[in-house]
Amino acid sequence: MRTKMVSIKYPPSQRALVMGTGEKLHVQDNIELPQLQPGEFLVRTDAVAVNPSDTKMRGDFVTVGGILGTDYAGTVVALGPQVESIHIGDRVCGAQNAMNANTPLRGSFGEYNISAGKIWLKLPASLSTEGGATLGAGISTAGLGIKLLQLPLPDAPVEKSTYVLVYGGSTATATIAIQLLRLANLTPIVTCSPKSAARVKELGAEEAFDYHDPDCANKIKSYTKSNLRYALDCITTVESTTSCFAALGRAGGRYVSLDPFAEHAATRATVKTDWVLGPSIFGDGSTWPAPYGRPPSEEIRAYGQRLWNIAQKLVDEGKLQHHPVRVLEGGLDEIPAGLDLVRLGKLSGEKCVVRF
Ligand SMILES: NC(=O)c1ccc[n+]([C@@H]2O[C@H](COP(=O)([O-])OP(=O)(O)OC[C@H]3O[C@@H](n4cnc5c(N)ncnc54)[C@H](OP(=O)(O)O)[C@@H]3O)[C@@H](O)[C@H]2O)c1
Repeated sequence: MRTKMVSIKYPPSQRALVMGTGEKLHVQDNIELPQLQPGEFLVRTDAVAVNPSDTKMRGDFVTVGGILGTDYAGTVVALGPQVESIHIGDRVCGAQNAMNANTPLRGSFGEYNISAGKIWLKLPASLSTEGGATLGAGISTAGLGIKLLQLPLPDAPVEKSTYVLVYGGSTATATIAIQLLRLANLTPIVTCSPKSAARVKELGAEEAFDYHDPDCANKIKSYTKSNLRYALDCITTVESTTSCFAALGRAGGRYVSLDPFAEHAATRATVKTDWVLGPSIFGDGSTWPAPYGRPPSEEIRAYGQRLWNIAQKLVDEGKLQHHPVRVLEGGLDEIPAGLDLVRLGKLSGEKCVVRF
């Protein structure tokens, strides 16, 4: 293995958006930047995306003094030992296991990001830095949802296609899931607002159903001739769980949500259930409170590595599109405005990206 030398004066510290006591977010100077470990590289942050999970870091989820943020994209400025295939000046995007009590300084909302495991990819010229910033949580969460449904990734497509319902098809997670499912020769069908129907079909959905329609689940059941066996619920409300359960065919199947679901809405013994914890993708576990806590898992670490290698190939070949972006200028100081946009539900079919 080649060892490359760090080629810039390594910054000893950085500015970052930190969660203080009383859950007060503030930009803090002089936060220590750890030395790079084998396989790690340092990225100057050029853009970050704001996810709903960033707005939910409250109470026992918080590590006081921890840096907030999951998604980032930027430019590689320093290489640790044993780094292969990445060079100074490359543009990359990735995700961080944010607000983990064991690594509280590894959130993405800082001037710099250190690569985390293999949860990153190199951006091809065809993909903007802002678009890349949206991919971290999206690829990780959609990929884990597909794993829990026990469905394949695009490197192992099924021979005989089957329907997969993606509830909340216009969410940032769903737009990645729809593409991964279609590339694995599965047939996604979705629920979304009528204004998003054309977009989700462009990405690979065969049909879109309006979730506002009280007859939505029956229409899906009739469209799939009561043969639907898989549902990925990207909304996770009592209504969405109930609707997914009603749409699944007579033989039952699998239901996976993106958050813990209401057990009383999950009413059929023939439907196996689970829910995704996005940050588990790193394989390092989660220190969040129950039911979000997780032990480390080498099996999930290996899956994450495989998923992100597949994603690299797909973006290189122009086969994976990013979610539409709403760009805010202003770096760290503007992230709280992005958090407000997400918290207040002011985005529809867009992800907020803050440019540094
Ligand atoms: N457990 C995890 O690790 C994990 C990871 C990622 C996300 N999540 C959670 O998953 C959810 C989605 O996150 P995201 O970032 O993918 O979403 P997002 O892009 O922020 O979703 C916005 C879209 O949600 C749709 N929507 C909102 N309320 C809805 C409802 N009641 N029924 C149906 N659709 C509704 C709207 O679609 P229309 O415009 O079509 O109406 C809107 O465009 C969030 O709650 C997030 O916290 C969890």
